[in-house]
Amino acid sequence: MKPSLNRLALTPPTDQEIRELCQIINETLGFKYTLQKKYLITNRLNKRLSELGIEHYQAYLTLLRQEPLERDFFCELVTTNVTKFYRETIQFELLAEKLLPQLAETKKGTKKMRCWSAGCSSGEEAYSIAITCRETLGTDWDIKVLATDINSAQLKIGSAGIYSTEKVDSVPKKWRAKYFLPHQSEHHFQITPQLRKDVIFRLANLMDINSLPATVHLDFIMCRNVFIYLSKEARAQILDHFYSRLNAGGYLLLGHSESIDPDFRHYWLPLGKSIYRKR
Ligand SMILES: C[S@@+](CC[C@H](N)C(=O)[O-])C[C@H]1O[C@@H](n2cnc3c(N)ncnc32)[C@H](O)[C@@H]1O
Repeated sequence: MKPSLNRLALTPPTDQEIRELCQIINETLGFKYTLQKKYLITNRLNKRLSELGIEHYQAYLTLLRQEPLERDFFCELVTTNVTKFYRETIQFELLAEKLLPQLAETKKGTKKMRCWSAGCSSGEEAYSIAITCRETLGTDWDIKVLATDINSAQLKIGSAGIYSTEKVDSVPKKWRAKYFLPHQSEHHFQITPQLRKDVIFRLANLMDINSLPATVHLDFIMCRNVFIYLSKEARAQILDHFYSRLNAGGYLLLGHSESIDPDFRHYWLPLGKSIYRKR
């Protein structure tokens, strides 16, 4: 029988249970969650426990240890997916004015540009990259933006490329008409099929260096508003991975409040605005 939500009396988690939940998040995603995240975790999990008919967090912990699929879903629930088109616009301006023209000079032989939106959420960042590349390089370039995240629901939104008018409002006006088509659902637009072809969505955990094929190498990586959640060790591991994936002279763009620790600066040349060049 389906559990009745009203009849379930959920026992609040103990601090120890929260610590164990944080441990699972931190081991899976490289985060640095502590007891301070108690309210975020319980707010997001109470409904899930009710749906499952579970009254005690200890029972949910047991389920998490046994069920990899539930662990994935749990990680989706306790992470933040806030994003927008052209977020931190200055970086897109720099991409168009400086970084892409420089990269294009070294790649004019192949006319291939390879980019990675790492921690892409619902795809707005990846499409902003694709538009910037298309507008800067033109139609005769082979442009691919790899867009990865651990959240399958957000990746699905990205693949469909359907966004509300409110979301599309942050796209510069001149590109809205060119890259967005009115969608049948009211007050929604869909990314044009041509631009959708430039972006490849894929489920991948940044903590798993084998989650991308060994042959994938990039000209620049955007990984923004992910490092803020990560432990020092996870950031170091992911930076190593990014370094090995970037082509010589490639760029790494972090979120505006994120930076690379000075210890790693002999590998990464800081250029300002949270942009680094592979040395
Ligand atoms: C706050 S959003 C940032 C989205 C976008 N980069 C931006 O700046 O607008 C962070 C995203 O990183 C993803 N994420 C967190 N940890 C991750 C990990 N270990 N591997 C891959 N994605 C991760 C989350 O699922 C979420 O969608």
